Amino acid sequence: MGTLTNKRILLGVTGGIAAYKSADTVRRLREAGAEVRVVMTAGAAEFITALTLQAVSGHPVHQQLLDTGAEAGMGHIELARWADAVLVAPASANFMARLAQGRADDLLSAVCLATESPVAVAPAMNQQMWSNAATQANLATLKKNSIGIFGPAEGSQACGEVGPGRMLEPTELVALVSDLFASGELDGLTVVVTAGPTWEAVDPVRGLTNRSSGKMGYAVAEAAVEAGARVILISGPTSLPDPERAHTIRVESAQEMHDAVHAHIADADIFIGVAAVADYRPTQIAKDKIKKTQEKMTLDLERTPDILASVAALKPAPFTVGFAAETENLEQHARQKLATKNLDIVAANRVGADLGFGTDENSLLLVEPAAVTELPMQPKARLARALIAHVAARYRAKHSAKVHTLRRP
Ligand SMILES: Cc1cc2nc3c(=O)[nH]c(=O)nc-3n(C[C@H](O)[C@H](O)[C@H](O)COP(=O)(O)O)c2cc1C
Repeated sequence: MGTLTNKRILLGVTGGIAAYKSADTVRRLREAGAEVRVVMTAGAAEFITALTLQAVSGHPVHQQLLDTGAEAGMGHIELARWADAVLVAPASANFMARLAQGRADDLLSAVCLATESPVAVAPAMNQQMWSNAATQANLATLKKNSIGIFGPAEGSQACGEVGPGRMLEPTELVALVSDLFASGELDGLTVVVTAGPTWEAVDPVRGLTNRSSGKMGYAVAEAAVEAGARVILISGPTSLPDPERAHTIRVESAQEMHDAVHAHIADADIFIGVAAVADYRPTQIAKDKIKKTQEKMTLDLERTPDILASVAALKPAPFTVGFAAETENLEQHARQKLATKNLDIVAANRVGADLGFGTDENSLLLVEPAAVTELPMQPKARLARALIAHVAARYRAKHSAKVHTLRRP
């Protein structure tokens, strides 16, 4: 089961008896780490109050499509873009019919049509309604349209009948939503990721560092875990918790990061250097706190080891991805770095006031010898997933190309 940390899940609730379980579904999704927003149909509001779902989700519940107030805040297109996945649970027979027809005359149907993210429904209805040829035809259409179908289960129903049509339990739904994010693109591979800044001590209490928060590197590590990789995250000082299911190693200086990387790189198929490693460090670290005795002082600095270049120079080298934080001439600098360090991909991002470091959103320009791909501004978790999908595709292409070369007589 994948984790839902940093995932934005839009829960659609429609008008069925099982709507009473929606509050628990929200709670379980949040326990799994997701941020949850709820959209209710008018039918659902007859079964459970918006107030309950607002209280458990921590956000106002969205109900109206044609509402000027809502459109000024988070309207249907924003909700569709916001969601990393949409789960409709319970999904009524009526809602399945609307979704199968591609209707957009209520907020939830419109969001489902407008989103690029995966949509799944958890049907819940009387067993006759489920078995009805019309519902089964709608089901077939939804499957054909790549809508995930979670359940239904069989058993005793609220109406007193027994048969298929019970909604899956909230814990089962959470497990299935988590699986939506488990791509398997990096199954069986080991990925080493560096993240965060480094700290180059000047004396026991002072040091040189930078504004990297580690958010992007941690998101990349999490996305690689989701894609099925064994992940070793080597992190400089950050205030972020260790990502679940990655092996996290905490270091301070560029030298420590270099040594930790080289202690683990022999196992790595892919190396992604996201850390903002200091280029220079003091030539000497003062044993005691430096006193304020002079008007001016000069720090003597020397180069730190170049971790990316040292990994790319290994024989054999893992598939190597470097990050480049630039304030100007993004592609030009990235291309230079690609060539001089012999990397497979440089992921360049613009940094500066309110951009890149510490923020929750970012964009990337992926520069490769024969291609440039733009990943537009989006939350770092989603951006990291797009990056991992790109890296996985390029890694597979490179390695299948190698197999072809070896096989050629
Ligand atoms: C007491 C009651 C319980 C209902 N339970 C269900 C149900 O479990 N599943 C279902 O598909 N429809 C059920 N319905 C019918 C839906 O509420 C009805 O089709 C409604 O239009 C659904 O609207 P919506 O899909 O926009 O939420 C029930 C109706 C009533 C009066």
